[in-house]
Amino acid sequence: MKNIKPFRLRNHSGFSIRSDDFLGQHVVFCCITLGAFASGSNQLTELVSRLGSRNVRVVVITQGGLGANQDFSMRIGGSIDVLLDDDGTVSQMLRSVCGRDRVDCQAFLAVLGPMGQLVKWLDAGDLKGGLEALNHYFLAKRLIGDRVPDVPLQQLEDGKVLTRSFGEWFAKKRVVVFGVPGAFTPVCNLEHLPGYTAAAGQMHARGVDQVVCIAVNDAYVMDAWARATKTPSTVAMLADGSGRFTRAMGLSLDLRGAGLGMRSCRYAMLVEGGVIIHMNVETGFDVSVSGAAPMLQLLNH
Ligand code: BEZ
Repeated sequence: MKNIKPFRLRNHSGFSIRSDDFLGQHVVFCCITLGAFASGSNQLTELVSRLGSRNVRVVVITQGGLGANQDFSMRIGGSIDVLLDDDGTVSQMLRSVCGRDRVDCQAFLAVLGPMGQLVKWLDAGDLKGGLEALNHYFLAKRLIGDRVPDVPLQQLEDGKVLTRSFGEWFAKKRVVVFGVPGAFTPVCNLEHLPGYTAAAGQMHARGVDQVVCIAVNDAYVMDAWARATKTPSTVAMLADGSGRFTRAMGLSLDLRGAGLGMRSCRYAMLVEGGVIIHMNVETGFDVSVSGAAPMLQLLNH
């Protein structure tokens, strides 16, 4: 989490708005090019109102000119501030704090927490895709800056089930945690877990004490999965058999229709001393933001 230099910009009505005006709630600053306006305005309004119902404010920053900003604001029903960043200084500052100043993308989203600190950022092809991704992130009950729930998780050790709370397993440790929908399911088995097994050494070299895989499966299944995949002890395979940890995180995934019951979303987080430093939640089944590569990139930053 990093601090952002305070700034002041004019909104679509010409009023001066200070970054401090947004303190007290999460705010998504969307730095976009005019091309990103192409997304359907109804969908945008819907995504913005879903975020609003979770007390997340959305603010667009453009270099389009006051007239273009007024048009855009009207098109999306006046529900978001559209700020004019004439010379791009603020967009550039936000991108640079995130280490993304050399990346060319239509929409760059920076999320500030209630105290004004930068908690998350993402490059998106369009504004709609970026807001969709953030809607998934904000579904979680625990967000960046919050403590991980200190509830029991299990692991099989020498044939015995060990039960310890998250804090007991990892007190004062720096850990990368990834959650998967199921042991042995194809994508988890062939892509998600192997990615972390391969990256565990590099993560340790970057100061991570332990890589942890958590699934809503029992400790016997997690152990069998670790043995079947020859997963090294650098990746701890923890069982959340009752789903209590996953529910407390707010990351349950309803797979009852597919015959798997209530499972876990795919997600990844960096946790230091029990506090969530970074978290990515997938919008679909595939491994993208929750994979080992983006977490390694984060550790490199
Ligand atoms: C998977 O391939 O990892 C998967 C398949 C079905 C449900 C959940 C996960």
